[in-house]
Amino acid sequence: MPITTIEDRYDRATIALHWITAGLVAFLWIFGQTADLFPRGPLRTGVWSLHVTLGFALALVLIVRILWRAGPGRGLPPAENGVLHLVAKVTHYLLYVLLATAIGLGIANAFVRGYNLFGLWSLPQIGDPSLRRPLTGWHGLAANAIMIVALIHAGAALAHHYLWKDGVLRRMVSARGG
Ligand code: HEM
Ligand code: HEM
Repeated sequence: MPITTIEDRYDRATIALHWITAGLVAFLWIFGQTADLFPRGPLRTGVWSLHVTLGFALALVLIVRILWRAGPGRGLPPAENGVLHLVAKVTHYLLYVLLATAIGLGIANAFVRGYNLFGLWSLPQIGDPSLRRPLTGWHGLAANAIMIVALIHAGAALAHHYLWKDGVLRRMVSARGG
């Protein structure tokens, strides 16, 4: 029996940070997979520049999210019991670890390239430029791993909502009274 009740809700900031993270990750993955389909030139450069800029924004959002969760963010009783609780917890930690890994590799990649953003401003070139290829490969792998785990995670949230008809998805969708 899930111990979540309809009254359990995350606070507005936790909910906003969760969905901003999910939106940015989806955007970054789609841009990352499709940017090279654009013809070489300002359009492709612009899409990659947007990817790197939103990537830095996601890094900031993740830091704020972790600080908020460790501090004033509302903690809720587990949505599951026993082994399912463990699976949910491991999945959530894995998502945080994969996010930090993909972001760390993305930032390292941008600096070894001395990335030029929108043809306007270049990041300082730091480190060995020949690392760009392996860093791009590992970054792409971490990005794909996030998508796989996030899809399983989203599937579980939808199963809670439509199959088990409990309040688990609702508590991450709207704050109480909101
Ligand atoms: C979790 C968030 C992110 C996702 C899902 C993501 C996804 C991707 C994907 C799928 C690629 C293509 C990899 C390939 O070609 O094999 C890519 C490339 C890249 N990403 Fe990300 N990325 C993320 C965050 C970041 C961040 C934070 C930065 C830096 C601030 C960044 C910088 C780059 C760079 C520099 C490239 C290579 C660009 C090029 O080939 O010109 N990414 N990303
Ligand atoms: C890239 C996309 C996503 C990422 C990276 C992500 C990440 C996370 C993380 C790390 C947590 C744990 C929060 C914490 O305790 O600190 C969480 C919770 C949650 N997520 Fe996601 N999420 C994503 C997409 C989704 C989607 C699409 C759904 C719904 C269909 C969803 C529904 C939920 C729910 C309901 C919770 C609360 C679970 C609970 O209270 O036990 N997430 N998410």
